[in-house]
Amino acid sequence: MDQPAPRDRLTPGQQRLLEMMPTIDRIRLPEVRDTVPAANYTDPARFDAEMAAIFRKRPVIAAPSALLPKPREYAGVDIVGMPVLLTRTREGTAKAFANVCRHRGMKLCLSTDPVAAGRLVCPYHAWTYDLDGKLIGLPRAETFPGLEKAQLGLKELPCQEAGGLIWVGLDPDSPPDFSTVTGELAADLDAFSMKELFLFDKATFKVEANWKLLMDSMLDSYHVTRLHKDSLAQFSVDSENMIDRIGPHIRNAAHRGNFDPAAISNRFGEMRKMMVFSYIGFPNGIIVVSPHYISLGVVRPIDDHRTEIDYYQLYDAPPRDERIAGKMREAFDLMERVFAKEDYWAAELCDKGLRSGTMSEVQLGGMEVQIRMFQDAVTQCLAAAGD
Ligand code: FES
Ligand SMILES: [Fe+2]
Repeated sequence: MDQPAPRDRLTPGQQRLLEMMPTIDRIRLPEVRDTVPAANYTDPARFDAEMAAIFRKRPVIAAPSALLPKPREYAGVDIVGMPVLLTRTREGTAKAFANVCRHRGMKLCLSTDPVAAGRLVCPYHAWTYDLDGKLIGLPRAETFPGLEKAQLGLKELPCQEAGGLIWVGLDPDSPPDFSTVTGELAADLDAFSMKELFLFDKATFKVEANWKLLMDSMLDSYHVTRLHKDSLAQFSVDSENMIDRIGPHIRNAAHRGNFDPAAISNRFGEMRKMMVFSYIGFPNGIIVVSPHYISLGVVRPIDDHRTEIDYYQLYDAPPRDERIAGKMREAFDLMERVFAKEDYWAAELCDKGLRSGTMSEVQLGGMEVQIRMFQDAVTQCLAAAGD
């Protein structure tokens, strides 16, 4: 009997959502009346509290493992004011450092795309580090009498690779609790081989909106067939979402139009064709499983009304031929267009609207309950931090 490989097998959590799934004719969209204060999105003091209680205290997603698929590669990514250097060492371990030269503070790695090299040379005076962060050389070393290279390695940041994501802690002196990202969430992501995926392409968007509005754009199933009526709506139906919490993270499954309960199996590769699995990796990751690729959004707040988001499109394997490469390019271009011209366009205009002072709260209905869940997770972190 043909047993699915363990990595293609649904986890018990994923299976549970599938079993809860009603047939399309039985869909009942939930009826909910709820509100969220507009100030949650606009208050600069709340933004500062969120950064302190969440982004500087908890593990945050820096990039997918697929950004650095091979040993001896590195890339830079700035997260909430911290310039982060991600490396994959000779042994294949993912590490994170402050992307800051120990000589005079220059940014070491200027590339956000992966660089294949076993060492980093500072662009300013050419101090050189290996991918374990060790200072291995400096020009005219004799002009620094008594300098001990061993004392001037890069400042390491807490880092944990789990479920195909590279999580970091932004406070070098206080490692976050990584057990919140290594358990059930990582097992779910391993079920679709997140770690082995091939990164086809990535794009970074700068959006003039509060970071939670970007999270909301992925938490809201209400807009899909409306805002995206000329793009993604053809692949979507208004579906009852099966939603589950994994600690602060969210696991979600919804129908595609071709959902067939008779075809339910425990193979992820089959189920992704008739279901949309999606995840919120709290606080800043959004993962959506499409039939042929996986989308990862990594949200990086800048200030209370500006955010960057990296979009990664990941496939099981590199394209076999030109035709498949062309299809991947089309899919990437479509998503890039949809984000820039639809989702982030709307996020920017909502941000402006909320800042007009004419709304004290936003209204949520039954297809937006995940926005409430996310808000609650944020509020719980603030409360736990004593705010
Ligand atoms: S600042 Fe890096 S070598 Fe001088
Ligand atoms: Fe959208």
